[in-house]
Amino acid sequence: MIRILINDGIHPDGQKKMEEAGFEVINSKVPQDDLPAQLPNYDAIVVRSATKVRTPLIDQCPNLKIIARGGVGLDNIDVDHAKSKNINVINTPAASSEAVAELAFAHMFSIARSVYKSNREMPSKGGSEFKTLKKSYSKGQQLRGKTLGIIGFGRIGQETGRIGTALGMNVLPVDPYIDQAEVDLKLFGDQNVKVTIPTVEMKTMLQQADFISLHIPFTGKAVLSTEEFALMKDGVIVVNAARGGTIDEDALLGALESGKVAAAGLDVFENEPTPRKELLDHPRVSLTPHIGASTLEAQRNIGLELADKIIAHFN
Ligand code: 3PG
Repeated sequence: MIRILINDGIHPDGQKKMEEAGFEVINSKVPQDDLPAQLPNYDAIVVRSATKVRTPLIDQCPNLKIIARGGVGLDNIDVDHAKSKNINVINTPAASSEAVAELAFAHMFSIARSVYKSNREMPSKGGSEFKTLKKSYSKGQQLRGKTLGIIGFGRIGQETGRIGTALGMNVLPVDPYIDQAEVDLKLFGDQNVKVTIPTVEMKTMLQQADFISLHIPFTGKAVLSTEEFALMKDGVIVVNAARGGTIDEDALLGALESGKVAAAGLDVFENEPTPRKELLDHPRVSLTPHIGASTLEAQRNIGLELADKIIAHFN
């Protein structure tokens, strides 16, 4: 019988589908250090980003046929090495786009109306300094009519562009590989409204955007560093729900300090799972702990898509 280890969890519907296909599914966290002893007993492993599947572990598992990543990023897996051993590496690049894009907007709205700051201060001061807090959060801004820069116009970037367009934002995506994209606004009900969004040069976007959201993988170098921050409008809001390292955190702290960046929304960090304290403590940083793909809907999509792909492989 095919044995599958689910090491970072999966939606119950995905697990059920694999069990109904006749596989033995063990949904239990094996600590990283114990994997070399236990993983050789399995035909497939399903992970999110927490479990690392590196070359030495792959070499200890000659029976492994699939490494399945529930999600997009494959940076925790030595993909080329796995492929050289005829191990099929699969992921779910489309299943969580809406979830990640909505989190980027959660940060944008939270910052625009000081919701994150208010949530920090209301418990201690809301009863005694209500009017003071009301005054300090009274200069909110609306997203409609603002310019949204998007770095990376793949699936998640386009979903972010879709939401921004539907909100009435001027969307300026940047992507060296894409000239334009036709985006379906997916309005409620049967209304089908398509818009074509062209990409622009990075410099144009940096000079015009009121909000900038990143939707690219980390490829070894930050795309936003001192030089790029210098080109941005004063008071820009920057959101990263993509990958740690895509923004140079020293440069970001400098830009926050100078006021160039009014506030940042960060879901991802260079040093996960121990982000630097200056960012965690910063009064103008809205924070979440890498939960971009963590909605029930996205995780169900991911679980079902992985189940389909794993079943197809073994059948
Ligand atoms: C991804 O690459 O899919 C996201 O960063 C989500 O990662 P996670 O599954 O570890 O939450």
